Amino acid sequence: MKTFYIETFGCQMNAHDSEKVVGTLLTRGYEQVETPEDAELVLYNTCSIRDKAEQKVFNRLQNFKRHAGKGKVFGVLGCVAQQEGEKIFDRAPHVSLVVGSASYNQLPQLLVQIENGDKRVTGLSLDTEDTFETPMTSRDNPHRAFLTIIEGCNKACSYCVVPFTRGPERSRTAASVIAEAKQLVAAGYLEIMLLGQNVNSYRDPSPDGLNFAQLLEKLGEVQGLRRVRFTTSHPRDFTKEIIDAIDANPVLCNHIHLPVQSGSTEVLTKMQRMYTRDQYLRRIEWMKNAKRKMSITSDIIVGFPGETEQDLEQTLSLQDEVQFDSVFTFKYSKRPNTPALALEDHMSEDEKTRRLTMVMEKQRTIQLRINAEYLGTVEEVLVEGFNKATGQWISRTTQHKTLNFNHTVPDANLAGTFMNVMVTRAGPHSLVGESVV
Ligand code: SAH
Ligand code: SF4
Ligand code: F3S
Repeated sequence: MKTFYIETFGCQMNAHDSEKVVGTLLTRGYEQVETPEDAELVLYNTCSIRDKAEQKVFNRLQNFKRHAGKGKVFGVLGCVAQQEGEKIFDRAPHVSLVVGSASYNQLPQLLVQIENGDKRVTGLSLDTEDTFETPMTSRDNPHRAFLTIIEGCNKACSYCVVPFTRGPERSRTAASVIAEAKQLVAAGYLEIMLLGQNVNSYRDPSPDGLNFAQLLEKLGEVQGLRRVRFTTSHPRDFTKEIIDAIDANPVLCNHIHLPVQSGSTEVLTKMQRMYTRDQYLRRIEWMKNAKRKMSITSDIIVGFPGETEQDLEQTLSLQDEVQFDSVFTFKYSKRPNTPALALEDHMSEDEKTRRLTMVMEKQRTIQLRINAEYLGTVEEVLVEGFNKATGQWISRTTQHKTLNFNHTVPDANLAGTFMNVMVTRAGPHSLVGESVV
């Protein structure tokens, strides 16, 4: 068995895990193929954040059931694997490999078992002290690299499965983070996206004990690195020092993703988020006072158990007050093992949809207004690629806004370069412009 196919669901942490899994497989002599039909080993790196995400993998497995036993081996990786464990073998008996996200460093041994024909192979330990570091990472994007600084989560948000699927927090040493950043620059990467479920609680486990802001300062000094981003920030652990670090060094991008979840302190309390609306707004004030204009993005959940009409109003008024550059909006979804299961939850799907639409419509109007402010400005962008359908180059500003632009020189290859672009049109989700040469 030497060919594999992998499909990834979920967040950037999962996407990066897949890059490491792919690197590990390539090193072992496997060849990656584009379709599950062509592969001998079919892997799904799964997400369990909402019920729909979890169902996706079981639908995929169902579709391919008939191929089982014909030389095809199925593996379930990631958050659903960790959550469901060996129960996956009951639900989908044609699966042979179940590996949680904290156990990928055992993948080489687990593959040997699979190659030897074992039909029930698992890696489900969560008490590993190690973070998953591998020199074999096969990165998807040639210009921007993901770099994990902290794994797991020590928070206990009452709706969230992540503490169960990814285990307790483990920070990497600052030395190993800096060393990887330097290797990435040497390999030609211009931008690094630091990853963690809660990057703000990063704490260097070596005697230096750097906190997150100090780690950012160090990364900003890495020669040749042009952009550093990070996600996700948790409001409770977000410090003013982070804004000061960004102010002091333009390599640190002026974009903060700070999920609020709700504008109502009552709902936030039930969510066990450990901050109030006012505390959240104080952090926003730091950002609004930053030297460079910060883009601020967020996540919002509607329909949490007990959310009243007044609570929803509070979320809408928070949107007005903050003026987010973008928001991911979700309907509350009941998740296994989570404390929120104990709360009474009577809201209909239609009502959740109504609330979701209200938040999204408000957000669309805000984004149209904010993005229009960029008309006529010249932005420095990192070019990601070319869209044949529109004939435009796709790029990102330092604030992580998508800027699609026309460039008059034919046949130029701009991917992976920095350009100056004048913004000429603004939509709710992206900007359009012309290159300035
Ligand atoms: N660690 C990050 C992101 C966690 S998952 C953080 O703390 O912000 C990404 C988003 O999914 C969350 O911010 C939340 O808005 C949403 N989410 C998590 N669990 C959910 C659930 N049970 N139902 C609906 N949305 C959920
Ligand atoms: Fe989930 Fe909360 Fe941890 Fe984010 S901080 S991963 S929402 S428990
Ligand atoms: Fe999903 Fe796991 Fe990420 S549940 S959002 S893949 S941490």
